[in-house]
Amino acid sequence: MYEWNLFLNILLSIVMVVSSALALPVNSLLFRIDSEASVFESGDDMYTVIWSTSLPGTGYVTYEYEGEEYTVWDEQYAIIRSTDSVHSVRIPKEHLDNNTYTYHSQHVGTKRAYVAVKGRTVSSDPVEFKGYTGQDEIHALLLSDIHENPDNAEKAMKNFDVPADLLIMNGDEVSLMTTERKFKQVLTYAHRFSKGEIPVIYTRGNHENRGEYSIPSVEIFKTTTGGMYYTCNYGPISFLCLDTGEDKKDTDWTYSGLVDLTTYIGDETAWMESLTPDEDAEYRLAVGHMPNADNRYGYDWTDTLEGLGIDLYVAAHKHRISYEYNKGKFPFYQMIDGGKSRDDDYLATMLTFAQGKIYAECFDQKGNFRGDYTYEIN
Ligand SMILES: [Fe+2]
Repeated sequence: MYEWNLFLNILLSIVMVVSSALALPVNSLLFRIDSEASVFESGDDMYTVIWSTSLPGTGYVTYEYEGEEYTVWDEQYAIIRSTDSVHSVRIPKEHLDNNTYTYHSQHVGTKRAYVAVKGRTVSSDPVEFKGYTGQDEIHALLLSDIHENPDNAEKAMKNFDVPADLLIMNGDEVSLMTTERKFKQVLTYAHRFSKGEIPVIYTRGNHENRGEYSIPSVEIFKTTTGGMYYTCNYGPISFLCLDTGEDKKDTDWTYSGLVDLTTYIGDETAWMESLTPDEDAEYRLAVGHMPNADNRYGYDWTDTLEGLGIDLYVAAHKHRISYEYNKGKFPFYQMIDGGKSRDDDYLATMLTFAQGKIYAECFDQKGNFRGDYTYEIN
């Protein structure tokens, strides 16, 4: 397999070198950006800019901050990554907020110990990125459970007459994570609804655990926890972003004995218990996919979430809107945010944060208003 891949890479490199020499457009046809970039929250006051190209190569982001030019590479252990077609670059939030960035990739046909065959470099247009600007109202668009129906999600979200300041995609955006192509679909949706211009909060759903690409699909975010769980802030809002795992036990026959979410969720629980409440935040949200926070692989997160001062837990998975899900069960509000409701329907929800309240409203893809609710926080 290694020899075959090496042969293909060298053959492709030869084709590219020859086509460049003859001024043939092979390079531009073969090497291109195939998923435009989105700016994901990834914890520790950092963003991770992620995009993909049609073939493997390098990735880097350029911008200017306080009079200095920055070029930040997709690298690991001092080596610039050149064998993947998904590229991720971690950048301090203060550098990117309300700034302009451009992302680039160069095709790398093959890299050996002392030589590499490199091809065309592709660059995006400059992207103007909007972070928190002290606005009075903050609008967060919720798009969970897209399940590979982005057209329906777009029809539903177009009913809101205010633009979103941030996008929350809390899981099951695709139904499988078997290959790189499935992760590229997630990237495509994130860009379609954020344009790379606003922050994206992404958490895994149960379906995004299913398949071997679920390993790199987490690694690419480069969180310091090592898992798909992290904290982040947007102005007065603090978010606890959780990986809630699968919807069935590790022993369920469908997983073939090849998952160990019990250990993973145990690590996540220990991490969560090490956190302290964000005393500066006006609103404290937990965002996850599975709603039953009182039993995640035997771990009851209720007291921990209460101790962190969580006001509202935004969950998904049920493919319907419910503003008072599990009412009375938890010492905080819980909602189910919509998503795919039938094969031909989708529910999108917008949260508006203002004056100590969170106003939630929902529309379906046919333009029907699907109710609202105001969460009294302070
Ligand atoms: Fe789900």
